Amino acid sequence: MSTSSPTESHHPHAGAAVLAELDAGLRASHPCISPKFLYDALGSRLFEAICELPEYYPTRTEASIFARHGAAMAREVGPGRTLIDLGAGNCAKAASLFPLLHPAQYVAIDISADFVRESLERLHQRFPHIEMTALGLDFSNALDLPGVVRREKRLFFYPGSSIGNFTPGQAGAFLRRARAQCDDDGALLIGIDLVKDSATLDAAYDDALGVTAAFNLNILRHVNHLAGADFDVRQWRHSGRYNALESRIEMHLEAREDLTVNWRGGQRAFRAGARIHTENSYKYRQSAAVGLLEQAGFQATGVWTDPAGWFAVIHARAIAP
Ligand code: AVI
Repeated sequence: MSTSSPTESHHPHAGAAVLAELDAGLRASHPCISPKFLYDALGSRLFEAICELPEYYPTRTEASIFARHGAAMAREVGPGRTLIDLGAGNCAKAASLFPLLHPAQYVAIDISADFVRESLERLHQRFPHIEMTALGLDFSNALDLPGVVRREKRLFFYPGSSIGNFTPGQAGAFLRRARAQCDDDGALLIGIDLVKDSATLDAAYDDALGVTAAFNLNILRHVNHLAGADFDVRQWRHSGRYNALESRIEMHLEAREDLTVNWRGGQRAFRAGARIHTENSYKYRQSAAVGLLEQAGFQATGVWTDPAGWFAVIHARAIAP
């Protein structure tokens, strides 16, 4: 097993570029913090807990689709792939498919480098015959895979509807970057959350236990760490609501009172009720999802959904230019 981190430090967030990004977001007329900062070590664990919640249907719905249609997917995919797991986390989803997909190499990529390395070490003991590589990489703006990743038969695995955390424009650009990183034998296996009633969506992003609230609020602790900020988490409240016009869940943090936040090189006053936008989670219609893939150079060859049509897993092949 090999591990590598193409970034200058152990943590992809450290450094001047990250500080500049956070600074720009906090000063903006509509303040925002990129959702990638939700995932420090604690944030990654809180997201794992979200996936266990009864309200958070995407994980179990997608799992049911894999369980029911895994054999058909494996026929589409074929054995001997270079399986590139984008946002691998604890690597559990990909690992559950190993016995079906029989990949030649497994490449686990995650922004939380330490988390993915730990996961991969455990996994390699279970599947010693699969070559494994862990990469600590922020692939939200660039996707440059190092030479250790085999070029042939690349299959990008992007489950969990993480594509929904990009705007449609960003999602298209991201998919084109993935297309550019594979030869004509490349492919994609992607999970996409579909449009559904707003009550189901609202509950999934504002659960009764408050785990999603903790996940959202934890971004402030992370920003304190990264930018030397002094956010007091208790002064903020979670909001997660479906915006039907934009076809997306919006997560915000809302100031409970008038307050001031300082960070390295900056300061801002927030009035009670002022909000910081932390995440979008776009929901697609199936036809729009297929169209998005096509515009990026991928032809959908298999679409599997659950009986209620809440979630889709799509296999798409690279279209020769
Ligand atoms: C990772 N991503 C697909 C999750 C989502 O549903 O958009 C992140 C999340 N945010 C709140 N709950 C889960």
